[in-house]
Amino acid sequence: MSAEFFGIENSHLIIEGVDVIDLAERYGTPLYVTSRGKLESNITRFQRAFSEADLYYAVKANNNLSIMKIIAEMGFGADVFSDGELYLALIAGFNRDKILFNGNSKNDDDIKAGISAGVTFSVDSLDELEAISEMAKDEINIAFRVNPDVSPQTHPKIATGLRESKFGIPWEQIVNAYRKALETKNIRPVGIHCHIGSQIMSVDPFIEALNRMFDVAIEVEKLGVDLEFLDMGGGIGIPYKEGENGPSLEVFSAKIFETFEERGSDLKSSPTLILEPGRSIVGDTTVLITKVNAVKRAFKNFVAVDAGFNLLIRPAFYGSYHRIVVANKMDEEPVEKYTVVGPICETGDILAEDRKLPEVKRGDYIAIFDTGAYGFAMSSQYNGRLRCAEVMVSGRRSYLIRERENYSDLVGRQVLPFNL
Ligand code: LLP
Repeated sequence: MSAEFFGIENSHLIIEGVDVIDLAERYGTPLYVTSRGKLESNITRFQRAFSEADLYYAVKANNNLSIMKIIAEMGFGADVFSDGELYLALIAGFNRDKILFNGNSKNDDDIKAGISAGVTFSVDSLDELEAISEMAKDEINIAFRVNPDVSPQTHPKIATGLRESKFGIPWEQIVNAYRKALETKNIRPVGIHCHIGSQIMSVDPFIEALNRMFDVAIEVEKLGVDLEFLDMGGGIGIPYKEGENGPSLEVFSAKIFETFEERGSDLKSSPTLILEPGRSIVGDTTVLITKVNAVKRAFKNFVAVDAGFNLLIRPAFYGSYHRIVVANKMDEEPVEKYTVVGPICETGDILAEDRKLPEVKRGDYIAIFDTGAYGFAMSSQYNGRLRCAEVMVSGRRSYLIRERENYSDLVGRQVLPFNL
């Protein structure tokens, strides 16, 4: 918990001077609460540590427009993964010259949207290259996504640069892909893209991938390609557990730039380094506040709250750990272990297991930390649960940045044919 933006007053959790229990009562729960100060401080830290790189925010981590607008205004570009993310990124104000359209399975709508916005594509297959070439009327800037066959030492579901991963073109085939691109009409190769995975807590896999990118870049240059950028993707991890510590951004940056400069001297062109951070920008800016509906002493002590994997799927899907506190009992001593579960009709709907907490009662509030990345963004309406509201706190004030859904959102675009 960053002491500058998160604190305790009258035994309540406070974010930028605002009592989260007041927020819960005012806006209802469950509720995602984001600290603008923490967001801006993360952005500035990243910009300082990587001052020589171009930074593209990975929109998939959190596509709330207010959050994206702040990131765009502070000078980031964007990595988008669908026509929908591109649409949101443009509304949020990202500069289209600094948007990279990623994706391993782009459909015609994706490609059309990218072409008409004039953004650069990260091409994931030769079929996609063909499709872009056929649909484009003018020259389109592209990079190929290279699969470097590197282990990122992270959860297997979020490792993306392994041999068996669906992403990218194997590094052994990539020079041929660039050769093909040079012969293909409407295509202008300008960069190389790579992304090895997410929540990576060590620098070594990035260095391994970067070296692979340079091996490829040297060969690609020989074909006559002028490389404007090398994009290493995102993936820098954040500490989720108490006492967990990865390398600092400064260490990541120093080691990456050391390799970049050393290997860069082998190239004729001087490409810019691009990074695509998502989690490390928004992850620790946000807390999910959820209210206790029942405490049940069964074979285990269960605390049943009003948020489940419909709103935060990470624990159920990846077994992820998120720190939790009883937000209205911050000064009380932990007394026993509780397992915090959601309202979803699945045994796996567990948010936190066997955590020592102060005595929990119906009506208490549990705050789940570090939920700004892949929290709301991966939410669903499973079990007919409405998606919750989102609030931003800034300098002792709160702003609603997404309304809670209502029943008409459950009906959504469904159609009941009258003669069915
Ligand atoms: N660039 C590309 C091409 C990506 O696929 C991703 C994430 C990023 C950048 C941003 O990575 P980050 O800096 O956020 O690690 N839902 C999972 C994470 C999935 C990541 C997918 N790709 C989770 O909750 O841990």
